[in-house]
Amino acid sequence: MAGRSLAAVIDSVPASDGAGVKLRRSLGQADHLRHDPFLMLDEFFSDNPDDYLAGFPPHPHRGFETVTYMLDGRMRHEDSRGNRGDLGPGDVQWMTAARGIIHSEMPQQAEGRMRGFQLWLNLPASHKMNPAAYRDIPAGEIPTVEPAQDVRVKVIAGTILVDGAPVAGPAPTGPTEPLFLDLHLAPGTAFTVPLPTGHAAFLYLYEGSARIGADGGALPHRAAGLLSDGDAVQVTAGPEGARLLVLAARPIREPVVQYGPFVMNSRAEIERAILDYQQGRLG
Ligand code: FE2
Repeated sequence: MAGRSLAAVIDSVPASDGAGVKLRRSLGQADHLRHDPFLMLDEFFSDNPDDYLAGFPPHPHRGFETVTYMLDGRMRHEDSRGNRGDLGPGDVQWMTAARGIIHSEMPQQAEGRMRGFQLWLNLPASHKMNPAAYRDIPAGEIPTVEPAQDVRVKVIAGTILVDGAPVAGPAPTGPTEPLFLDLHLAPGTAFTVPLPTGHAAFLYLYEGSARIGADGGALPHRAAGLLSDGDAVQVTAGPEGARLLVLAARPIREPVVQYGPFVMNSRAEIERAILDYQQGRLG
């Protein structure tokens, strides 16, 4: 077994998006800080309503998928295709924007903690102009398994083996075959997560501390730890335990041209996206 190790770390930086929601951005804070096919990862985490109340009023997307995973708080999604969904703690929203959608994501609380993640996952040229799709995944539909003692895994997308039997997440399986796990380890626990060889993979530690791989590289808090290739990664929790996102997907290896919420393969396709949006043909 070729174990993966930490190859690079992208620390998160404070950022603001939507109508002024304060968040931390690791992947995607600059064009060269992506991890094909992963374009961006934001964590929003605040007890202060001023940081999140303005929300994300209507805005377009084209050319990729957005995945929202809530830990605390409530958000309402509405879009130009008539979908509407309420996200609460543990819920996931998987939106394949593809050829285009206009949506809003607005907080449904005036106080308390808002916490969660938004991941942007690219689509290959062959899928960028497919019809948009939207899927609400309630927390209760997400399998939580204990593949070893003191190890708890929520399987949001992709498949893991537990006692030799496959456990599949409810998220749609797209062309990049994503694996999206939320991994909880008790203090001092070590666990080896199988990962498809050749998939780009990274970890995001959002609670506790952890060391990665046989060489035990420390994974910084609230940073994207990009992994070398291999068929598994060993994660060892520190004395506080660890909670982290585990993400892997098939690289696309195509040119990426991004203009805000549009991610295409060429400048001409971006200009087309802007024109379609301005002329009401995007949603
Ligand atoms: Fe959005």
